Amino acid sequence: MAERKQRAFSGIQPSGKLHIGNYTGALKQWIETQHSVDGIYCVVDLHALTSTEKTSEKTVVDQSREVAALYLACGLDSNASIVFLQSEVWTHPYLSWVLETQVPLGWLSRMTQFKTKSSERDSIPTGLLTYPLLQASDILLYDADIVPVGDDQKQHIELARDIAQRFNSAYGEIFTLPQPKIGMDGSRIMALDAPTEKMSKSRALLSHGHGIGIVDEPDAIAHTIRRAVTDSGSSVSVESAGPGIRNLLNIYKAFSGETDNELTTRFDGKGYGTLKSDLTDLLVEKLAPIREEYHRVLAEGSFLDEVLSKGKERALQISSEKVALVMESLDISR
Ligand code: AMP
Ligand code: TRP
Repeated sequence: MAERKQRAFSGIQPSGKLHIGNYTGALKQWIETQHSVDGIYCVVDLHALTSTEKTSEKTVVDQSREVAALYLACGLDSNASIVFLQSEVWTHPYLSWVLETQVPLGWLSRMTQFKTKSSERDSIPTGLLTYPLLQASDILLYDADIVPVGDDQKQHIELARDIAQRFNSAYGEIFTLPQPKIGMDGSRIMALDAPTEKMSKSRALLSHGHGIGIVDEPDAIAHTIRRAVTDSGSSVSVESAGPGIRNLLNIYKAFSGETDNELTTRFDGKGYGTLKSDLTDLLVEKLAPIREEYHRVLAEGSFLDEVLSKGKERALQISSEKVALVMESLDISR
């Protein structure tokens, strides 16, 4: 019998402008492995309800469609993978509630993302605390073995694994233990205007110069890179680069696939201006086909709807079987 392929699950929130960090940290990994794994990729719109910043005039559903269109434009093959919207599949918030009854509060209150985000707000919605349980549900419903994400999500995936372990030891082997899959390059792209801070979707929309959108036009890309904060010197040294130049080199590396040695040969001793203009050329070349395909998929519309409807049905089918098992194990099923 053929061996079962590894299953991958991941998702992105429709809560701002998708940037090159989302591409190198998440999307690029999904596309590279899509024919060797059994992939399920979700637009996590219920998670996005926890962010209050009004980053766009668009409705959540329009932003969700845009994110799904971007998945396809980046090269996800809808015949090979499942693509769907989280809010269309009831099993996700349902399992999340069940997990709420099982997981100690302390496991949630020690999450770094909760601590940071709650410290930035006066009024903290409960959903900010239980966010990782909805994320664990996303993953555990589908028996995902691997979760391809950027570095910032490692703690949440490890929590999902701990939850699965705890549940299994109490109720039997119900869940597969997932593990994070963090890429070698581009798993943590920093802001171009502040290279010690992570590039973020909401800030990318609000402040020019912070991030580069995956579908930014060439002149916007050139403008942002020209203004990017560098180090205090004037010529590149790959080995001893400070945070600004290190970030530009990391982006170059993630998009070109070159090694540190190749980067050294290409850039050592060259001026910062050369690095910036070569990086601009590289990003414009790599992102142009994605941008064109994105606009085509959105304009065409009906194909995207078909993909999402088919994805919804398949996701419902797989995940409702898992919910039935969970309810049986809890002796709550008739
Ligand atoms: P989010 O923007 O928080 O919805 O994240 C979506 C995916 O992109 C997750 O897998 C994140 O880990 C990844 N990601 C977000 N920001 C970055 C970044 N600056 N560098 C690399 N990966 C990122
Ligand atoms: N919390 C993730 C982020 O902000 C998004 C997410 C939700 C996710 N559910 C997921 C990522 C399941 C991987 C798997 O990036």
